[in-house]
Amino acid sequence: MISRLSHTELGVTDLDEAHHFYVEILGFRLAERTDESLYLRGAEEFDSWSLKLTRGTSGGLHYFGFRTSSDQALDDLVELHERIGAPVRDLPPGSEIGWGRAIEVLTPDGYTIRFVRDIEEIELPKGVDQRLPMRYTHLREGIPPARIHHLNVRGPDMAAAMEYWRGELGFSMAECTLDQGGDLRIAWLRRSHHTHDVAIGKFPEVSFHHLAFAVADAATVLRTADVLADGGFSTAIEFGPGRHGGTNSMMTYAFDPFGNRLEFFTGDYVRDHDREPIVWDYESYERVGRIWWGAAPPESFLQRVGPILGTESTPVR
Ligand SMILES: [Fe+2]
Repeated sequence: MISRLSHTELGVTDLDEAHHFYVEILGFRLAERTDESLYLRGAEEFDSWSLKLTRGTSGGLHYFGFRTSSDQALDDLVELHERIGAPVRDLPPGSEIGWGRAIEVLTPDGYTIRFVRDIEEIELPKGVDQRLPMRYTHLREGIPPARIHHLNVRGPDMAAAMEYWRGELGFSMAECTLDQGGDLRIAWLRRSHHTHDVAIGKFPEVSFHHLAFAVADAATVLRTADVLADGGFSTAIEFGPGRHGGTNSMMTYAFDPFGNRLEFFTGDYVRDHDREPIVWDYESYERVGRIWWGAAPPESFLQRVGPILGTESTPVR
C-alpha cells in the first residue's frame, strides 16, 4: 500500500545559495549537508528529511517518491512494474540518508519515482521536555514551511498517465479539469486523504511544474510573500497570494534562485477515496477553478516548466 508523498529531490546550482534561500530565508530545517546535497524538512515533519537539493548544472526534478506501509508493498510494486514493463531496480538500505530498502522506477509517463518503507524519524524530546516537532515553530525563523504536500508534473499522454497512476498504483482522483474538447487536462490524485499527493497536467513535454509545501494557515500564506520580499526575493513571487477554486487551497507561488517553482499552500479538504472525482469543465475552471480570488496567473505560470533530470541510475529517456 502506498501511504503518501514523502520526498522529492530537486536540482540546484549552488549549495550555499540554496542554504541561504531555503534555510535562512524560508525556514526549512537542515537535516544533513553533504558535499553534493542539502537534506531538508518542514518544521512540522516527523521524517528526518523530505526535500533533497543536489548540486548540478540546473534546477529541475530528479525524482519524487512515496512511503509504503509495508515491506511486502515494495515487493508487490517490483512485481507490478515488471509486469507492465517499466524499468524498476532495488536500492539497498542507506541509498539515501535514513532510508531502508527502496525501489526506483521509471514510470510509463516519464518520471523517476522511488518507494521506501523505512524512513528515519527525528528524535522527539522525552520526559519533562516532551513536545511535538510543531511546538517549536514559533521560535523559528522563516515562514516556516510545515510539511511536504504535493508535486505537480506535466506530460503529453494523460490516458497513459491515468492508466498507470489510477489503474496500476490505485491513486484516487479527487478533482480534474477538462479541455475545450472535454479531454482530461489536469488530474489531482492522492493516496493520502487530502486533495492530492500528485497533480498531473497535460503539456507537450514531460516536465516539472511545482513542488508544494503546506503552511500552517492563510495568514502564513501571506507571510510567505512578506518573508520572501523582506529577504530580497520579491521578484521571485510569481502568482498569489490567492485562493484556488479547485482544491479550495490558498497559495503563493515563487521560484527558488535556480528556477524551481515552489508553492506554499494551505486549506484543502479531506474526502474519501471512493467518492467520485469533482470535475471542472473548461469554462468553470477558467472562470473560478484556477483562481477563486486574487490576480489572474501570469503567462509564465501557464507556460513555464522545469526539466525532469532523472537520477544516475534512471536517466531520462
Ligand atoms: Fe499545487
